[in-house]
Amino acid sequence: MKTSNGSSNKLKLSIQFNSPEFEGKDPVILSAFHKKAEAKKGAKKKEATGEVQNNHWPKEYKEIFSTLSAAENFSGKKGESFTFYDQNGRTLYVTGLGEKAKVDLEVLRRQIATAYKAVSKSYKKVIVDVDGFLHKKDYEGSLTALSESLMMTAYNFDKHKSKQKPAKLEEIVFATKEKKTTAKAMEKGLENGLSIGESINIARDFVNEPPNVLNSVSYAKMVEKDAAKLKRVKVKVLGKPELKKEKMGLFLSVNNASAHDARLVHLTYTPAKSNKNTKHIVLVGKGLTFDTGGYSLKPSASMINMKFDMAGSATVYGAFRAAAMLGVNAKITCILGLTDNAVNNVATMPDAVFTARNGKTVEILNTDAEGRLVLADCLDYACDLKPDAIIDAATLTGACLMALGTEICAVMSNNDKLVGDLKKSAKAQDEYLWELPIVDEFREDIKSNVADLKNIAGSRFAGTTKAGAFLEEFIQEGVAWAHLDIAGVADSQSHLPYCPSKGASGIMIRTLVNYMSQVK
Ligand code: BES
Ligand code: ZN
Ligand code: ZN
Repeated sequence: MKTSNGSSNKLKLSIQFNSPEFEGKDPVILSAFHKKAEAKKGAKKKEATGEVQNNHWPKEYKEIFSTLSAAENFSGKKGESFTFYDQNGRTLYVTGLGEKAKVDLEVLRRQIATAYKAVSKSYKKVIVDVDGFLHKKDYEGSLTALSESLMMTAYNFDKHKSKQKPAKLEEIVFATKEKKTTAKAMEKGLENGLSIGESINIARDFVNEPPNVLNSVSYAKMVEKDAAKLKRVKVKVLGKPELKKEKMGLFLSVNNASAHDARLVHLTYTPAKSNKNTKHIVLVGKGLTFDTGGYSLKPSASMINMKFDMAGSATVYGAFRAAAMLGVNAKITCILGLTDNAVNNVATMPDAVFTARNGKTVEILNTDAEGRLVLADCLDYACDLKPDAIIDAATLTGACLMALGTEICAVMSNNDKLVGDLKKSAKAQDEYLWELPIVDEFREDIKSNVADLKNIAGSRFAGTTKAGAFLEEFIQEGVAWAHLDIAGVADSQSHLPYCPSKGASGIMIRTLVNYMSQVK
């Protein structure tokens, strides 16, 4: 079995500076903007629909374009495209970015993704006229957005197909007229985009990997192997004996019926310049390599795709990996709780009572509400590290899809500042994050008659937040914590052209990386 990471990691991206005209004969991707027409009665067609803005093109291209009758219907609106050829037969692919003033980084991500898809089957190498793809004067941010999007778009999980059809496109050159003065910012942007894009694709690979390949033991090894390449990163893996020693009774209860021993992967990144004021962030991820539901067995249709129940762990690992590559200034710890939720004669039965690492007892009324059990012990373990903040990510509840769909990630927290910062980061990365409240009534609803807590609430309503209320029971006094329920966003992001319509999305990694880069 091959263990290579996502095929897009083979895509080569580079910048060519001082490139007034485009060298060679490779196709060029150009941008065009749209100028809205002023509403005038009896206006001519062009005046009514608005017109294309392409002042930034080389003169030759503008001239050819202006003579093409087919080009009249192209007005540079967002999502429109137009292909034409120069005197030498070079392909010029134009992508509309819409009104120039409204172009933001997400427009760049989406339109470059669409352009990639239009050319990737036919050409080996293409040039991007990157000066037409700059958001304001944000050279670094624009290059990051473009390159991370291209990496994400080129991703293709085909390693288990006997006949692979890799994209023809192998190389993309960002050609710029800019001199070396802006080189640093552009190069930094590209480098960051590559680190983020590659880390997202590695996380996607983990999520897409089937459960007969990726289990708690093999997954921990894969992470260990990948992390060995990172600078300033240390890895420690706890096995079943260590988890017993840690008294992680809830985590271990989920692992009871598994053919594979549970693993807790503990990664740390220490920044180059760290002192006693350096902030410490802990990421925690739910890593259920498969969720059958256990004795509270899932119906067949709901069980399909439950290999993705480790997406929380892949998300936090992807973010950790990218943050380490970017060299963020905070200390980052990443804790992955890995097991599957299987069923056999020694599987945990509903009504069982187990004791958590923090001493609280929990009545297991539904073995399918297992993610919160794994997280509970991992969160308590994380609190012992006395961090400045803990952020966990988990495909925790089906109810999250009911509440927020597949586009929006839910966040619950005990700290307004932390939520505010995460929301700012999500906004900066054009990912959707919405806060759900944990209220006292929900806290009441998870109290048990026979133990301290029960793992499902009395009523079915507000399932996402009641799971949040359960996790909160394992956060030690004074520790800032936020919980991301990624059940909806973790796969099938068909509205995003840089995500595959089926399979792992890698969504929320950018938000977490942005958050860690901002921590001071
Ligand atoms: N992994 C699931 C959550 C899930 C379900 C994510 C469907 C995405 C799609 C989790 O372990 C689970 O089964 N949760 C239960 C909780 C319930 C028993 C309180 C659920 O959501 O149904
Ligand atoms: Zn479950
Ligand atoms: Zn689960």
